[in-house]
Amino acid sequence: MSNHTQALFKSAYQQDAEHAAFAPGRIEFIGNHTDYNGGLVMGAAVIEGITVGISRRDDREIHIISDGGQVVALNLDALNPTQGPSAWTNYPIGVTKVMRDLGVSMPVGYNLAVTSTLPAGAGMSSSAAFELATALALGALYSYETDKVGLAHIGKKAENEFVGMPCGILDQGVSAFGEVDSLVSIDCATVVFGTTRMPEDTHFWIFNSNKKHALVDSAYADRHKECHDALAILQKTYPEAKTLSEISQEQLDSSKEALGDLLYRRAAHIVGENDRVRAVKAALAAGDLQAVGDALNASHESSRVNFENSVEQLNVLTNLLMQQPHMYGARLTGGGFGGAVMAFTNSEFGDEQAQAVAAAYEAKCGIAATVIHTRAGHGARVL
Ligand code: GLA
Repeated sequence: MSNHTQALFKSAYQQDAEHAAFAPGRIEFIGNHTDYNGGLVMGAAVIEGITVGISRRDDREIHIISDGGQVVALNLDALNPTQGPSAWTNYPIGVTKVMRDLGVSMPVGYNLAVTSTLPAGAGMSSSAAFELATALALGALYSYETDKVGLAHIGKKAENEFVGMPCGILDQGVSAFGEVDSLVSIDCATVVFGTTRMPEDTHFWIFNSNKKHALVDSAYADRHKECHDALAILQKTYPEAKTLSEISQEQLDSSKEALGDLLYRRAAHIVGENDRVRAVKAALAAGDLQAVGDALNASHESSRVNFENSVEQLNVLTNLLMQQPHMYGARLTGGGFGGAVMAFTNSEFGDEQAQAVAAAYEAKCGIAATVIHTRAGHGARVL
């Protein structure tokens, strides 16, 4: 466990944690909003993440503390979502509820402390990392074992049913399956995971726009619904299609009128993204990094024009990055509506260049960007 988590645990509970677990945040490399549409996605676990320390109590209470906060206390027999300043506890409480529903015996409550090395609001999925670190820590405490697929499903179920966010499996799957210097691919139709080594001499940079759409969760839910509505219309002509990812570009084009402009563009983003994921896989296998970068750039363009989950700040950052030397490609990463842009570069792209991009962004948008040069690291694990 990190010294930081240990110190927080001890100062809050005057004891040492019995178990600890770490789960990483993630980069969405390519495959935007494809996960809940039964499509393809590639991501990478990052070295930054969430650490949870835990120990058992003698009563049925749950006490949770995060860095710089106060202990939030509740009862193991009354696990309900909360709103307001303690809403962040919905992640570990949701996981506790899902594990109890799975039949994990919890005869006593627990003390939990959480610390993070993930920048808040950067769109690197601290929520999935918190869910997976909690699930592993609870598993160690209550003697419950699961594999990586099971772990990812616990996190996703907590997020869908307790937090109320209709996300797919990307964040939890990548956090569970991450490997050092590797990309994680997920086929969300079959829920099959794979890993591919990153090409030599390639780097990830995250540029956090520090701009967050006020209604980011409801904007995400709107897109989820629009995809669902588009599929329902397409299924009238193509009843065999179970998801938007089973629709071809030709089928989509022949349904343009029935869909109308907005739903056509939403569906075109999903169909196009799946093709771009396939193109990236082929280009990685062929060692054609510029083709990888071109697909990343095209993905951003489709987010901007078709899915409309980009915002001006992300477009400015992406445009600045695309013009840089030593740059393969750049795109928004994650749900969108603010958050971060990911840049895929060779090793000659350095700090000075990154800071120049951040300065140009600030001059244009009036907001300071946060720059993170990160690496692909290990997936979630008990420490
Ligand atoms: C968020 C969600 C993911 C995925 C991405 C967009 O990160 O949590 O499930 O839908 O947005 O690809």
